[in-house]
Amino acid sequence: MLPLVLDDLVAGYGAAPVLNGLTLEIGARERVGLFGPNGHGKTTLLRAISGLIAPSRGSIRLFDKPISGMSPAAIVAEGLIHVPQSNLLFPEMEVLETLRLAAHSARARQTTAASLEGVLTLFPRLAERRSQKIKTLSGGERQMVAIGVGLMGAPRLLALDEPTLGLSPKLKDELCVAIGDIAKSGLPLLLVEQDVEFLLELTDRLVMVTHGRCGVELDARQGIDHATIMALYFGEGHAA
Ligand SMILES: Nc1ncnc2c1ncn2[C@@H]1O[C@H](COP(=O)(O)OP(=O)(O)OP(=O)(O)O)[C@@H](O)[C@H]1O
Ligand SMILES: [Mg+2]
Repeated sequence: MLPLVLDDLVAGYGAAPVLNGLTLEIGARERVGLFGPNGHGKTTLLRAISGLIAPSRGSIRLFDKPISGMSPAAIVAEGLIHVPQSNLLFPEMEVLETLRLAAHSARARQTTAASLEGVLTLFPRLAERRSQKIKTLSGGERQMVAIGVGLMGAPRLLALDEPTLGLSPKLKDELCVAIGDIAKSGLPLLLVEQDVEFLLELTDRLVMVTHGRCGVELDARQGIDHATIMALYFGEGHAA
């Protein structure tokens, strides 16, 4: 029973689809990194699997259960949690309040206390800032809250969309350690990032998304050099 199986997915926003028959599997305890040029469908893929847009074709199975057509809230309740590219937190709410409220599904409510302890251990900065309003946090700290919100939902599969976008190298390193800790727990991960080096460190397998399909795959356990990555993005002529 695989955590996630996507078969021949077609989805988009208007007449022309963004996802063009996309197929992808995530194995038990597997961490998969998605990368690829801007605008080729990575975020759209995460929105389709989390029920925010309806696919016009194909199937989505979460631990063997078909979830295509289910509401976003029902999909969260099933344990597929998507932390979006730009965080959607309420600026006037405090950190602890935000985290507690995020455990809203029946399944998540059973583990609220343990999840909260886990999030505050993972992100000691949030423990220090537990009574601060979201609007007073730095961008990196908000991103930590956004991931914390995802973890409070008791994920069985966690999808993170560019969690380090716009962060300083230091905060990026902090997040890398935290995501590494999450990954060690065995939780299946779908991690979208432009930074291939970052993905190589945190995932087992990298998949390139181009033109709404999954293309080239790289095994992250084998070293991959910079030239190979540049060649993938820009063609062989730009490999140097
Ligand atoms: N709400 C929307 N309405 C119409 N078109 C959209 C919408 N959101 C995205 N698109 C279009 O869908 C295509 C794929 O966008 P998507 O956000 O999935 O790309 P991406 O691979 O995540 O890119 P990036 O690396 O820049 O985040 C783009 O051409 C984009 O302009
Ligand atoms: Mg995106």
